[in-house]
Amino acid sequence: MQTAISVEGLSKVFKSHVKQEGLLGSVRSLFNRQYKEYVAVDSISFSIAQGELVGMLGANGAGKTTTLKMLSGLLHPTSGKAHVLGFTPWERSIEFRKQFSIVLGQRNQLWWDLPAADSFLLHKEIYNIPEQHFTKRRNELAERLDVADKLHIQLRRLSLGERMKCELIGALLHAPRVVFLDEPTIGLDVVAQHALREFIADYNKQSETTIILTSHYMDDIQQLCKRVMVIDEGKLLFDGQLEKLVEQYVAEKVLTVVFAQPTPRTDIESIGTITEYSPDKVVFRVNRNSITTVASEILNRFQVADLTIEEVPIEDVIRIIFNKGV
Ligand SMILES: Nc1ncnc2c1ncn2[C@@H]1O[C@H](COP(=O)(O)OP(=O)(O)OP(=O)(O)O)[C@@H](O)[C@H]1O
Ligand SMILES: [Mg+2]
Repeated sequence: MQTAISVEGLSKVFKSHVKQEGLLGSVRSLFNRQYKEYVAVDSISFSIAQGELVGMLGANGAGKTTTLKMLSGLLHPTSGKAHVLGFTPWERSIEFRKQFSIVLGQRNQLWWDLPAADSFLLHKEIYNIPEQHFTKRRNELAERLDVADKLHIQLRRLSLGERMKCELIGALLHAPRVVFLDEPTIGLDVVAQHALREFIADYNKQSETTIILTSHYMDDIQQLCKRVMVIDEGKLLFDGQLEKLVEQYVAEKVLTVVFAQPTPRTDIESIGTITEYSPDKVVFRVNRNSITTVASEILNRFQVADLTIEEVPIEDVIRIIFNKGV
């Protein structure tokens, strides 16, 4: 498969000027400038094939947006290499920008005081999109995102969800081959989140666009991304299948048993760590290596109406990883 993005030893160190306190301090700072360095992205390397949809996970301040900004050419790295569609992003060539797009969920890129349709016209000029392509694509995208009747209303009058949908249309009008979505569902209600998720999944499949997505909503990651990258304090901790992440970092599985008749807690306490108990139903955390043994022991000893084995919820997985580090 063709490589869309390759990154090697990419780092970003922010240097900020430390001002000493008080007026005297300000004067001193003028003559004796002191700087503090902060490593936001610490030598990360990875590669992504054309058409992949990869999730990027990490706590606040982990370095996700900084990484995406470097790969977009919005920030110069301190060191390292990156190629996106064969281009070095921070050289900002027109050819690169024609094939690339970034959506920053925390910031509007369309004009606040204009209707989205007018901003789109501007994109048409910037990206040199032929008239028929432009109209067809705009209408199709608006239809699929269910905002066809919102394009002529001033952007600032739209709801957050409608605005985000318009941002997405704006970002996709020129049919970029690589798209970065930095928290596209932030602040949206569950219905809007779901709609966007469906759209992103379909779009990725149909157009084979390469997408990197960051989100703090685990549903986004779980439903959209087979592959995830976990970033912690600027370092790439994990890069692989979501299931592998769970296997690697979480020793336990969740075993739920519904009893056919009330069962006292004392009868089952020795089986595993109980996380929920009622006489009819109990939830255990059981080591993944002994789960089959434990399940058959339960089936032998008790009258069971139902038994299910599941992975620990992804929110818990992430909490476990960030709490203990790796
Ligand atoms: N221009 C800047 N100057 C100094 N420090 C910066 C600058 N931009 C980002 N940082 C710092 O770099 C670190 C990484 O920030 P970044 O925005 O990449 O995190 P993030 O993973 O996107 O977090 P979030 O999930 O909150 O969006 C943070 O500690 C941030 O304060
Ligand atoms: Mg961010």
